[in-house]
Amino acid sequence: LDIAREIATGHRKAGDAASFTGSIPENYDRFLGPHIFVDYAADLAERTVAVKPENVLELAAGTGIVSRILRDRLPKNSALMVTDLNPPMLELAKSKFKSGEAVEFEPADAMDLPFDKASYDLVVSQFGVMFFPDKVDAYNQASRVLRPGGHLLFNVWGQMSSNPFAEIAHETAGSIFPDNPPGFYRVPFSYCDIEAVTRDLEAAGFGEITHETIKLDKPVKDWSLLALGLVMGNPLIDEIKSRGGYTADQVVKRFADAFRARFGQAPGTMPLEAIVFRARKSG
Ligand SMILES: C[S@@+](CC[C@H](N)C(=O)[O-])C[C@H]1O[C@@H](n2cnc3c(N)ncnc32)[C@H](O)[C@@H]1O
Repeated sequence: LDIAREIATGHRKAGDAASFTGSIPENYDRFLGPHIFVDYAADLAERTVAVKPENVLELAAGTGIVSRILRDRLPKNSALMVTDLNPPMLELAKSKFKSGEAVEFEPADAMDLPFDKASYDLVVSQFGVMFFPDKVDAYNQASRVLRPGGHLLFNVWGQMSSNPFAEIAHETAGSIFPDNPPGFYRVPFSYCDIEAVTRDLEAAGFGEITHETIKLDKPVKDWSLLALGLVMGNPLIDEIKSRGGYTADQVVKRFADAFRARFGQAPGTMPLEAIVFRARKSG
């Protein structure tokens, strides 16, 4: 079941799962970044640098968590183009860079990339492809802008049950609005079938496909801050507002209580699981 596609084609109404705007970027970056994104960003940046690309395109870069690490690790003479669908996410990403750094920013829909064919050595994206309404079309776009032999590198979340923060968020939100459960969390956790991802990559002509599952045990100092990010740092907040009856603070408290019930009082740890894919355009 491809929920991102259902939403994109109007068959499902879940707010807009791809709409990271308003106060979402700041809450995302401050409260979700350090808890669930930064470690995988360091991993993906490391893998990118290992390929020694001269021209890198980042898709769905969000608030630049990967971009910042990438710019610090890539050689100074390699170019970095940072893109995202939502300009407000990209604005926050931009604020992490000083003028004179070799980085460019451009809003771009991964489904319709505004770049010439064969212009990049490597396309990278962290936790973005799940939001693309048609994965094969998106991979075809990536392939078009890659030079022959270029690499596509991305990660996706593992199953919700392997990422209890998401399971708790999804179930708690559903228990608050039982008549109309918010659907946001299903989207980023809907694309973890390794065979399905491999098939999609092959359908777009990619080869040399490898994948690696990365499990972490993430320390959390304060469950309330994680809860704040999970409620207000992504489009779930729009679903909550549109349903009404509960303030964001009330929902945050319910999330934090659910974390304590599962993991005990902070500080604690929670498991995370993601899968990183690498594929190559034939050359
Ligand atoms: C979970 S965030 C990941 C952001 C960033 N890569 C990170 O690791 O923090 C998903 C991002 O996908 C972006 N996005 C959603 N649909 C997109 C599309 N069709 N093309 C490009 N970006 C998209 C959103 O704006 C959001 O910034």
